Amino acid sequence: MKSILIVLSSLLFLPLLFSCEPTAPEVVAEPPAEPSLKSAFIDDFMVGAALNNGQINGTDTAGLRIMAREFNTITPENIMKWENIQPAADQFDWTMSDKYVALGEKNDQFIIGHALVWHSQLAPYVEAEQDSATLQRFISEHIKGVVGRYKGRIDAWDVVNEALNDDGTLRESVFYTTLGEDYLRESFSLAAAADPEAELYYNDYNLWMPAKRDGAIRMIKKIQASGTKIDGIGMQAHYSTVGPDLADVEAAILAYAELGLKVMFTEMDITALPNPWDLQGAEVSQNFENSPFMDPFTAGLSDSMQVAMSERYSNLFKLLLKHRNKITRVTFWGINDSQSWLNDWPIKGRTNYPLLFDRDFKKKPAYDAVMKLKE
Ligand code: G3I
Repeated sequence: MKSILIVLSSLLFLPLLFSCEPTAPEVVAEPPAEPSLKSAFIDDFMVGAALNNGQINGTDTAGLRIMAREFNTITPENIMKWENIQPAADQFDWTMSDKYVALGEKNDQFIIGHALVWHSQLAPYVEAEQDSATLQRFISEHIKGVVGRYKGRIDAWDVVNEALNDDGTLRESVFYTTLGEDYLRESFSLAAAADPEAELYYNDYNLWMPAKRDGAIRMIKKIQASGTKIDGIGMQAHYSTVGPDLADVEAAILAYAELGLKVMFTEMDITALPNPWDLQGAEVSQNFENSPFMDPFTAGLSDSMQVAMSERYSNLFKLLLKHRNKITRVTFWGINDSQSWLNDWPIKGRTNYPLLFDRDFKKKPAYDAVMKLKE
């Protein structure tokens, strides 16, 4: 019996002895994954970008490649704003928002909705409404309609955007003047009812300013005290190479985290251009005349500004890494420099350099400076 088994087993191995095939399995080396922002900061926070129309409708293929490679969260720069998604009462236009959500799902990204209740880029029928019951109904139908359509698909919403003045008082928007401050709580309550699983945020610029920070804290405490869900705060982060002071940014991170909120940097960019009016933030109604003095880098960024930009981004990210247990997301407001709103604000048609990718979609020294922090 034993000898039969030996003969049988050696027969089994015969083909191997006479075969010309290699006996060891061929090992195919995986190509090393290209370094990216999303993988470098994977243990710290999500890294994202705002997408413009060209990216969402698929025409900007170079931008889309960067989006998929570098970012694990996306925000729609304009297409979900009220004037675009519900331009007239009860007339929703889902063309672009459906594409946006499908794009994020295809790339397995954390999908942000921006922005439900905002005084700017409002549809004219809302802007003009002075009857409180009607305006209240508009808000309710807007939030139910938009959040409801993407329930379980959009992960988080900027529910209220820019409700505060820089001194911490409430902005005299149509919402505040017609409904009083309860529109804030009510908006969060409606969003929570429309999708109980989605994260809900308050989003604003200049939230590092001590007076505005204190106003935001007062406002958020009231929402929390009413038992209404609010999960996080978005500090927009439209900064320059010299301001704000990072000590103020740090104080704000700590103060918001103290409220139990997730802290996010939601619209990050750093302007390279002069701003003699000392404008800070993102008040879109402010616009001024262009001149060569105001537009010094049309032929390219100077070496010294390139260095200043890299250092500023590096210092900012050092601070974010220091508070990585409080910060859940950092989103750039655009993908490459030519696509930034800062080419048109506060002066139209300038050449600005606020992001991490240049006009040819190449990584800038500021990109390398940020990545170097994770080596
Ligand atoms: O789509 C029209 C186009 O049809 C028209 O030909 C063209 C002529 O100017 O305008 C186009 O619309 C512009 C739109 O961006 C799309 O490019 C608007 O004029 C322009 O005002 C609008 O600016 C946007 C701005 O919000 C408006 O409030 C910026 O792209 C967008 O980056 C900016 O984003 C805001 C955040 O949502 C909230 N926080 C501040 C941030 C910066 O302002």
